[in-house]
This record gives sequence, C-alpha cells and structure tokens, in this order.
Amino acid sequence: MAVILDGKALAKTIRQQVAAEAAALPRRPGLAVILVGEDPASQLYVRNKEKDCQQCNIQSFEHKLPADTTEETLLTLIAQLNNDPAVDGILVQLPVPPHIHEKRILRAICPDKDADAFHPENVGEMVTGNPVVWPCTPFGVMELLRAYHIPVAGKHCVVLGRSNIVGKPMALLLLRDNGTVTVCHSGTGDLAAETRRADILVSAVGKVGLVSADMVKEGAAVIDVAMNRGPDGNFCGDVDFAAVKQKAGWITPVPGGVGPMTRAILMRNVLAASKARQRLKK
Ligand code: GUN
Repeated sequence: MAVILDGKALAKTIRQQVAAEAAALPRRPGLAVILVGEDPASQLYVRNKEKDCQQCNIQSFEHKLPADTTEETLLTLIAQLNNDPAVDGILVQLPVPPHIHEKRILRAICPDKDADAFHPENVGEMVTGNPVVWPCTPFGVMELLRAYHIPVAGKHCVVLGRSNIVGKPMALLLLRDNGTVTVCHSGTGDLAAETRRADILVSAVGKVGLVSADMVKEGAAVIDVAMNRGPDGNFCGDVDFAAVKQKAGWITPVPGGVGPMTRAILMRNVLAASKARQRLKK
C-alpha cells in the first residue's frame, strides 16, 4: 500500500515559513494578479491566491478585467506593474481570452517580477542555469519528492504531458536532480511500456483514467498533477487512485496533493523575487 503524499500539510508548512520570512523583510512583498474574463475555475484560483497572500504576509493587488479587454490595455497595466516598487511578482492568470496573444503578454512581464517563471528569459535560465524562480507546479512536485525522501538521481522518471507550464519544466527539474527522464505525449506509441519503466511517474495530461494499475511499476512514486471532473462530478486526477495506491510506493491524492503545493510555491516565488529586489536596493 502506497504512502500518501500529503501536499496540503507540506504546503501549510511552506506558507508558515514564507509568512515568517516575509514579516522579517523591511517591506512586505507584493503580488499582482491579473484576471481577464469570468472563467469560474480561474476566478476560484485567483480567490485562493488572495487567501494565500493574506496568510503569507504578502500584499495582494488584484486586477479583474472584463473579457473584452484589449491586448493594449493589458500591456499598459503590465507596464505600470513592472514599474510599481510595491509589486515584486506579477501573475496573469491563464488562459487569457483568444483575442489576446499569450506569448506577447508573458514577454511583457519584467523577468525579475515573473512569479510563474513563464518569461522566455526565465525559461532560458531553466535550461542553462539556475533561475531565481521555477514554475510553481513542477517545483512543488520536487518539494514533495524531497520531503518524502524519494530519490531522483539515477532513477527512471517518466513525465506524461509536454506543456510549457508543467511537462517541460518538470522534465528539466528531474534532469537537474540527475534523473533519467522520458517525456511522453499524444504522439507516444506504447504509453504503457514507457510508464511501466518509471520509478517516478508524473502525469499532467488532464484525462480521467489515463493511468491504470497495470501501467505502474510496483513501488513507484506516482504523482498526479491533473485536476479533472470525474463522472460523479467530483475532482479527480489522471490516475486510477484506488487501484494504483495498492501497487505504488508513494502516490499523491487529488485533491490535496500537488494542487496546494503549486499555490505554496507561488508564495515562495514572490518572497524570493522580493528578497532579490529588496537586496538590490540596499
Ligand atoms: N492557469 C493554470 N495554471 C496556471 C499557472 O500556474 N499560472 C498561471 N498564470 N495561470 C495558470
């Protein structure tokens, strides 16, 4: 029976650490969150971020814009926030409406204030060096692995999904810790053959029932990044949790696994950006 990786508990510990460190800074760190449109899931994420900021002694600046906001208006707001000394982190909730070019928006955020680490400059740092911040979800996964002493070096790590937000940076982080990494995607031929070799399996696809017990190696660490609505209307991940937990060594629940970690790492990214900026000013 697998050990359940309690992301909720670890996230709480991280929030407490961030709160203590933020309180000790000369100036409170600030996070600006921009939400364009009324997508209910995005609205919920943004509400949660505000709650997290309160708990972490981080000032939250919310900018809720209507769905028909022009790209120019959004770029103007980002330029203002780039120049606002009270703002250490800027996050534009994705997805943005289709008439707005996501790439152009992410490029406009000052790389030093890029709370998500989605700016091309930070992506380059991830590939070649040591960025100040990493994307929140994959870094949260690494923190979970570390907290439960799950070894990565020399292990076979299989990542399902190749998104810029999760799959690609996840692969880079596992590689940085000396894992042997395979990235699978919709074009992968025999998915089960790949997943069965995994000591660490990370699924970030968004497909209910994608990972069944016969696809998992005995004793593997199974990390479920997805947040889907199951047939019963409840949240579930990509992994058949009930069956896979009988076989895996470690497994994340959905909800309560990776999700809370993503939010906690965002708070830590803002703290890191703020520390870097406050040091620079001295
Ligand atoms: N939408 C879904 N996940 C994320 C995320 O990690 N960051 C941002 N900005 N938007 C998202």
